[in-house]
Amino acid sequence: MDEPVIAHKGPAVREEEPGYRFWCSCGRSKKQPYCDSSHKGTGFSPVKVHITEKKTVTWCQCKHSKNKPFCDETHKSL
Ligand code: FES
Repeated sequence: MDEPVIAHKGPAVREEEPGYRFWCSCGRSKKQPYCDSSHKGTGFSPVKVHITEKKTVTWCQCKHSKNKPFCDETHKSL
């Protein structure tokens, strides 16, 4: 599988309402940190996340986190 594109070397901090989100794993989406279907043909798929309560989420945008889809500070070593 190809390496994901580094969309940004820093997280996206978002206030999320309950519901489902589709995190972009390929790094190609223009709507980071969410999937916009730009992954088609790449072998990557979005990660479906169920948000059960309103909360702040720190989404990975470098796409290399060991705790995808959440930021684990890996972007600092890229
Ligand atoms: Fe990146 Fe869908 S656009 S996973």
